Amino acid sequence: MEIPELPPFNHRPRPYTGPTPDQILRLRREFLNPGIFLYYKKPLTLVEGKMQYVWNETGRRYLDALGGIVTISVGHCHPDVVEAAHLQNELLQHSTTIYLHPMIAEYAEKLASKMPGELKVCYFVNSGSEANDLALLMARAYTGNYDMIALRNAYHGGNASGMGLTAHYTWKFNVPHSFGVHHSITPDPYRGAWGHDDSEAGKKYAADVKNLIDYATPGQIAGFIAESIQGVGGCVVFPNEYLKHAYEHVRSAGGVCIADEVQTGFGRTGTHYWGFETQGVIPDIVSMAKGIGNGCPLGAVVTTPKIAAALSQRIHFNTFGGNPIVSAIGKTVLEVIDREKLQANSLAMGRHLCAGLQRLKEQHNVIGDVRGKGLMIGVELVRDRVTKERATTERDRLVHEMFKRGVLILGAGRNAIRFAPPLMLTTDQADTIVALFDESLSALSRA
Ligand SMILES: Cc1ncc(COP(=O)(O)O)c(C=O)c1O
Repeated sequence: MEIPELPPFNHRPRPYTGPTPDQILRLRREFLNPGIFLYYKKPLTLVEGKMQYVWNETGRRYLDALGGIVTISVGHCHPDVVEAAHLQNELLQHSTTIYLHPMIAEYAEKLASKMPGELKVCYFVNSGSEANDLALLMARAYTGNYDMIALRNAYHGGNASGMGLTAHYTWKFNVPHSFGVHHSITPDPYRGAWGHDDSEAGKKYAADVKNLIDYATPGQIAGFIAESIQGVGGCVVFPNEYLKHAYEHVRSAGGVCIADEVQTGFGRTGTHYWGFETQGVIPDIVSMAKGIGNGCPLGAVVTTPKIAAALSQRIHFNTFGGNPIVSAIGKTVLEVIDREKLQANSLAMGRHLCAGLQRLKEQHNVIGDVRGKGLMIGVELVRDRVTKERATTERDRLVHEMFKRGVLILGAGRNAIRFAPPLMLTTDQADTIVALFDESLSALSRA
């Protein structure tokens, strides 16, 4: 069968004149963290990006169906984002919050305008891990309580508090962390005790939050944190009303509710701007990163004036948080999402892509589950649909097969694949992803 090609795209990458991949690899091996891993047997070198595509050093084009790990929201090197960064770069690269600067103030106002309820006070940081660290501090400073409930299968970052909230052994070092953190069961309708056929599943999973509060804490807690869809854990979408019931338990134990929107924010889930809205709740604190800056180091925490007041009891300072350049970028990202109607596109393209993947499920038994919202889609691979034995090596081979065909996707959890392309994906591109996934699945079964 002829392998479908990537749709045409009008951009010619510049000739690359830098070090070769072998030279980069040697430098990496000698001078960089040996704990970071590389994807693909022959690692991919990326030297340029434009909207939905990236190019390697030879000028080969790849469709970025994982959006730089759910980070490229409005497209690689979106011209408006590049221009905003460039303009600010020429004027003033760094300022600090001890002086006034218009960019951070205007950006905060614009970000706050996207938030529901009383969520309107913005803190800017440099990453998702930092955002969650600050969110945790806020919950404890505001409530005067210490214990936190997080979820198993969650990922919240690689610093001490992020690692403590995370619940995957692969990301947790054997050092003291997780002080006061208790992990509740994963509300996973595919693998968990209660499935899609149970309309009470959300309530039943949330009962474990109450159970933890009653049996593992002093009965009063600082808070609860959850990703609105678990990304790193395999794109696990919670049953309806899970967060509603969990939040009720948390609030009646004096705690506040934190939504980690690092992957699910900024229109990615399609029906809503924020992932938590798909569950009909309003959190007390929201942490953000990744798509907020379209690839630049920007994170944020947004909370209510009451909670923010509790954090004024000491100085809280962040040297680079909300610096003029990242604020200019962040503000432009918000404008582009609105102007180009990217949330609506995420909904339409997410449905289209998901429908294509569902069709493939009918033909390929290795697909156990297709799930997601908007352009945050997961496919879980199994060796047997009844036992749900995890098809982990098959998953890894599939990621590689897609790479050979020019599409970048990402493994997630132990046996899932994530599709999280930039939000301006087109129908042609979605169809190509499905066609090439079909080809890759067939190559896998032939092997
Ligand atoms: C849901 C979630 N929270 C937090 C983080 C940590 O973000 P960062 O890597 O920017 O520290 C990540 C990173 O993947 C994430 O997916």
